[in-house]
Amino acid sequence: MEFCFGLFPTRGSKISWISQMLLCSMLCMWTTVESWSYFYSNTTMDWEHARSWCRKHYTDMVAIQNQDEIGHLNAWLPRQRNYYWIGIRKINDDWTWVGTNKTLTAEASSWAEGEPNNRKQKGSRESEDCVEMYIKRETQPGKWNDERCGKKKTALCFAAACKNDSCGYGDCVETINSHTCACFEGFYGEKCEKVVKCDKEKVTVPYKGSVKCTHKYGNFSFDSSCEYSCEEGYELSMSRPLRCTGSKEWSDQPPTCEAVQCPELSRPEGGSMDCFAPLGPSRYQTTCVFACDEGFIQAGSSSDPLQCEASGRWNATQPSCVAITCQNPEGAPHLITTCSRSSSELRLGSTCSFDCGAGFVLQGADNVQCSGDGRWSRAIPTCKEMECPAPEIPSSGRIFCSLPLSSSASPETPHPLGMVCNFTCDEGHELEGAPSMECDHPGQWTSSPPTCTVVKCDREEVTVPYKGSVNCSHKYGNFSFDSSCEYSCEEGYELSMSRPLRCTGSKEWSDQPPTCEAVQCLELSRPEGGSMDCFAPLGPSRYQTTCVFACDEGFVQAGSSSDTLQCEASGRWNATQPSCVAITCQNPEGAPHLINTCSSSSSELRLGSTCSFDCGAGFVLQGADTVQCAGDGRWSRTIPTCKEMECPAPEIPSSGRIFCSLPLSSSASPETPHPLGMVCNFTCDEGHELEGAPSMECDHPGQWTSSPPTCTAVQCLELTRPEGGSMDCFAPLGPSRYQTTCVFACDEGFVQAGSSSDPLQCEASGRWNATQPSCVALRCPSLEAPENGHINCSNSDPVFNTQCSFTCTPEYSLDGHELLNCDRHGNWTGERPTCQASPSKLSAITSGVAAGGALLSGLSLAFWILKRLKLRKDTFELSSNSDIEAPPQVYKNSLDSLI
Ligand SMILES: *[C@@H]1O[C@H](CO)[C@@H](O)[C@H](O)[C@H]1NC(C)=O
Ligand SMILES: *[C@@H]1O[C@H](CO)[C@@H](O)[C@H](O)[C@H]1NC(C)=O
Ligand SMILES: *[C@@H]1O[C@H](CO)[C@@H](O)[C@H](O)[C@H]1NC(C)=O
Ligand SMILES: *[C@@H]1O[C@H](CO)[C@@H](O)[C@H](O)[C@H]1NC(C)=O
Ligand SMILES: *[C@@H]1O[C@H](CO)[C@@H](O)[C@H](O)[C@H]1NC(C)=O
Ligand SMILES: *[C@@H]1O[C@H](CO)[C@@H](O)[C@H](O)[C@H]1NC(C)=O
Ligand SMILES: *[C@@H]1O[C@H](CO)[C@@H](O)[C@H](O)[C@H]1NC(C)=O
Repeated sequence: MEFCFGLFPTRGSKISWISQMLLCSMLCMWTTVESWSYFYSNTTMDWEHARSWCRKHYTDMVAIQNQDEIGHLNAWLPRQRNYYWIGIRKINDDWTWVGTNKTLTAEASSWAEGEPNNRKQKGSRESEDCVEMYIKRETQPGKWNDERCGKKKTALCFAAACKNDSCGYGDCVETINSHTCACFEGFYGEKCEKVVKCDKEKVTVPYKGSVKCTHKYGNFSFDSSCEYSCEEGYELSMSRPLRCTGSKEWSDQPPTCEAVQCPELSRPEGGSMDCFAPLGPSRYQTTCVFACDEGFIQAGSSSDPLQCEASGRWNATQPSCVAITCQNPEGAPHLITTCSRSSSELRLGSTCSFDCGAGFVLQGADNVQCSGDGRWSRAIPTCKEMECPAPEIPSSGRIFCSLPLSSSASPETPHPLGMVCNFTCDEGHELEGAPSMECDHPGQWTSSPPTCTVVKCDREEVTVPYKGSVNCSHKYGNFSFDSSCEYSCEEGYELSMSRPLRCTGSKEWSDQPPTCEAVQCLELSRPEGGSMDCFAPLGPSRYQTTCVFACDEGFVQAGSSSDTLQCEASGRWNATQPSCVAITCQNPEGAPHLINTCSSSSSELRLGSTCSFDCGAGFVLQGADTVQCAGDGRWSRTIPTCKEMECPAPEIPSSGRIFCSLPLSSSASPETPHPLGMVCNFTCDEGHELEGAPSMECDHPGQWTSSPPTCTAVQCLELTRPEGGSMDCFAPLGPSRYQTTCVFACDEGFVQAGSSSDPLQCEASGRWNATQPSCVALRCPSLEAPENGHINCSNSDPVFNTQCSFTCTPEYSLDGHELLNCDRHGNWTGERPTCQASPSKLSAITSGVAAGGALLSGLSLAFWILKRLKLRKDTFELSSNSDIEAPPQVYKNSLDSLI
């Protein structure tokens, strides 16, 4: 046990010093494996340096825990002059092991005699707060002494022997020069690596049960746990699991499975119980059936059998048997009941008999018996008061029944014993028989009821009047009490008295018979503003009176549809009386801006009333300015209206436009398109000029300040037909006006000059778009007479169509064309001829020809034309343009050939 004090915690172990001590004291299974070792310094040093030297090179400064360790150190260490520092010092006035921070206990201390003396002053720097050990000292070797910490001594250190894996399932415990393993429960071996085993065979499986084992350290080893369970309806004899303990034994014997037990049931009173228990009384699957004796009924549960369930509970509550009872038959008024048992115990077989009190009689069975189903064998009877039958009431009579004041207050029947009935007859009837009777025991009247007979009146007193008739009705018998005779008159006549004659109870008629008189209507009166004329054959306002009504002029009949009223047989006029109402015209006010002035107030505008009208400023009256109310309630003329003053729609000039607007200052929305103040501006289309005022304004009372202007097309200078040509103009807006187009052409022999040939147009500016062209005549070159010849031309100016003929002086003959023409191109039709000297033989002919020259020259043109016509088919066409190409042939030698 003393080794326990030498225990040192293994490095890194989290187990506290105390728990190791406890563990050691409990187990103390020691195995020496390795040792721990001591070391000391070669030099001296103060206590603090000595500790840090130890911690740097080894585990820590030596901590002495037992005397054996002291002995070992004293034997092993060499003697040093200043001895050795050990790992204990004073902290907060307590001597404390610095390695473990544990206070030194008295048992563990090994102070030298008189130590610790703390010779130096306490608390000062010189106080003796550290401990040295005397090694190999002459006196008290191995003991301790308190010393100043600053002194230099040899450091005494140790190195621990325990490693992290030194012990498997155990704690490592340091010992002198060695260590041991303290094994945990259930483990053994040098390194606590082996686990204790329990007997597997002892874990048996029970009937209707199973076992499940869990192993922590090995199959059926220390701390293995075997949990038992049972099938449904069975339960374990012990619920905790078996556990393998450190002593190689199981913690318990294996449990058994037993059928679940339900609470025991008992036979119900007044009934029976029958149980079938296959697994034992009231155990799981036991079934119990319940039944109740006759006169008892099952209660508290449904009728199903009960079964013990796996949960240990019955599947329903146990039923009980309750005795069936019949209801107490007492309570009906006047009923006296006598039963075989008390009222709360009226069970199967109990009987009750019945009777009634005085003056009452039993209605129903006089005894009943209680049956097994809680009902009485017969219906419970009732008691009825003794009574007389309802008395017969005589026709036209009345009965008054009452009980003598002395009898009980309210009988249960209408005619109890002792009741007295008196009879009376209605008016006009007489009683025959006993007027009174009484109800006697056991329910009979003392006499039979009387009868009532009707009285009669005199029939002869009912006479028929003039213009009338009578009709009688009988209630109880001919001309008897309450017979009624109703009188009536012919149409237009009425009775003075209207009620019928009636036969009274005193055998007299109520009145004398009445007479018939003509009907009277209400008196009529002449209507105001009219007249009335009546004809009354049967007296004023009587039946058949006729009245005719008429209204004066300006009045109209009102209040009736008819102007002739007749007094009818009903005594009423066949229509209501008419009245005459003054005819009024409707108030002509209301039209906007209309101001009217009438001769009488608006509600009294009658025949002859006049109204005159005017309009507000800026408006003009439309229609009559005065009207008169006519006899038919209409105004003589239609009521006028007021119209805003306005100008007529302005005429828009043709080829022009108009722009009208109101000055901004005027009212927003006028009612007319051209109100006063409207200003209209005019413009003309292109090529047109405005003539007149370009602007006008609508002035009071609706006139424009000027008439609208006109737009006229601009005029160009008049063109003239050119000499030697023609001009053709198209003037849509008038001669030489805007848009006029003129086309020019020159005659044959003339050519256009001075302008292009395009048409001319009159433009918006009033000028033609080009200058006018002219036509210039074309001239052929001037011709002279040939030598020895003469020339004779139709025109001194050689213009188009000028013809020149040539002749030669005698002795000369013409060579070439005798006749030349100026054509339209300005060319002569041929070369100028020459005159050649001719032979004499021919002179006669020549002279002859010469003589005929003049004739020839005159006829030559005609011949030429004829010749041309003859040859035209072969040579050229007269109309052809190509006639220029072939100048006309002149035949000078044969006149025949000319023709
Ligand atoms: C102490 O001295 C011994 C002997 O000279 C030597 O073997 C050892 O290494 C020294 N130890 C230290 C820590 O200097
Ligand atoms: C040592 O223990 C004391 C008192 O129990 C405590 O005040 C001190 O802080 C501890 N020192 C260390 C280093 O654990
Ligand atoms: C435990 O038992 C199982 C099955 O019998 C076996 O396979 C396994 O090796 C066993 N383990 C030990 C540690 O004996
Ligand atoms: C109780 O169990 C019995 C037998 O199985 C069954 O007949 C009966 O209906 C059950 N009763 C109820 C209330 O479930
Ligand atoms: C009332 O009687 C007169 C006379 O017979 C007849 O002219 C008139 O139309 C009658 N008026 C009405 C509303 O029947
Ligand atoms: C009309 O002409 C006047 C004066 O030239 C001008 O002030 C005004 O704006 C014109 N109104 C319209 C509608 O063109
Ligand atoms: C003048 O106006 C006509 C018709 O539009 C046009 O044919 C012609 O070419 C114009 N002449 C000139 C010189 O513009």
